[in-house]
Amino acid sequence: MAKAKNSKKSNKMWGGRFDARPSDIMQQINVSIDVDSRLWPQDIALSKAHAEMLGRQKILSKKDADAIVSGLGKIEKELQNGTFPFRAEFEDIHMNIEARLRELIGDAAGRLHTARSRNDQVATSFRMWVRDAARDLISEIESFQATIKKLSQKHAKHIMPGYTHLQPAQPVTLGRHLDAYWHMLNRDKTRLEDCAKRLNKCPLGSAALAGTPFPIDREFTAKKLGFDRPMQNTMDAVSARDFANEFLFACAQCGLHLSRLAEEIIIWSTPSFGFVSLSDQWSTGSSIMPQKKNPDSAELVRGKTGRLAGNLISMMTIMKGLPLTYNRDMQEDKPPVFDSYDTIKLCLQVMNGAIGSAKFNTAKMLQDSEDGYTTATALADWLVMELGLPFRDAHHITGTIVKMAEKKGCKLSELALKDMQSVERRITKDIFRVLKI
Ligand code: ARG
Repeated sequence: MAKAKNSKKSNKMWGGRFDARPSDIMQQINVSIDVDSRLWPQDIALSKAHAEMLGRQKILSKKDADAIVSGLGKIEKELQNGTFPFRAEFEDIHMNIEARLRELIGDAAGRLHTARSRNDQVATSFRMWVRDAARDLISEIESFQATIKKLSQKHAKHIMPGYTHLQPAQPVTLGRHLDAYWHMLNRDKTRLEDCAKRLNKCPLGSAALAGTPFPIDREFTAKKLGFDRPMQNTMDAVSARDFANEFLFACAQCGLHLSRLAEEIIIWSTPSFGFVSLSDQWSTGSSIMPQKKNPDSAELVRGKTGRLAGNLISMMTIMKGLPLTYNRDMQEDKPPVFDSYDTIKLCLQVMNGAIGSAKFNTAKMLQDSEDGYTTATALADWLVMELGLPFRDAHHITGTIVKMAEKKGCKLSELALKDMQSVERRITKDIFRVLKI
């Protein structure tokens, strides 16, 4: 992007009371166009709605309002086909668009900013962006959920060891294990739905902080931009960013879930487990060890969770202790939000592809379920249900039987009935029903 042209003159947008321009270094910290250019679709829609409202309310002449709306249409085309001249001297996307409007339609452009401020403008367009991003992520999550649902149905009857402490605990099915992730993702989805719903009130019309004396119609612009209604308190409207925090948390939490799944894939694909193998498309090799096939897709997803959590912390730290209302610190709100959106979207797509094409070794899973005495809890439950023992006693008896199997180096189901009866004489051969996987 072009460097700020440092003309001798003060800034055209706000420089009336200034004699000198900002220093080059000040320009560097001031400019945000490289980041916030992504807000252009929202800013154009906002400005069109605002201009239309100003015309309807007779705050602008119909002629000026029409000229503004059609000029914005031309700018929209330029932005779509990549010919829009982004210029750092105009700081951010909002002023770049307004400056371009002046070039295209002349002085009428100067009337667009009637009854609004960049503070309500940026708060509104950012809310719209986050709302769109949340909706997009929801459909990304749904698509991954569909992949998981298919797999968990396919593996509904395939037995594997279930773990606690990463020690074999009880036999489960691969279907149920995968289905757990479907439910985690479902909560991630509803968190994003909540976030998009709660943020959907419109700051526009709050102007800088105190509202505006012009007879604006906030209901009209709110509806036009897809909001449920205007935000009530103008000071809250321009300074609130908790919607961004919520979005960042939803992204971080979803990333955290993906990271746990990634970790399982990584463990399961070591030869020692041998439960899964990722397809070549989602693995990489080693430059020195020719035999290696590494689950880098899953490792990268696990790693990206760090930045998702970091973005949430950044945003909360930026907002902490800011007095009402708008403070320039808040310009730093966009990088973490944009980055979290890009990151979680990529991670969802990667996991969808990697898991969807992975091969699960259900024979190895079944074989491992036989190790580790994973039916011991079933044995204890049998003692309670069939013999009426208190669970604590049943637990103790079962422990003794496990120790016996361990000594003999056999599975629980391979013990002789009379050996078990030497521990608890009332055990019958019905016990074998629950000892088998
Ligand atoms: N680009 C700024 C932001 O994203 C908006 C600027 C509002 N500036 C101001 N001085 N009121 O926060």
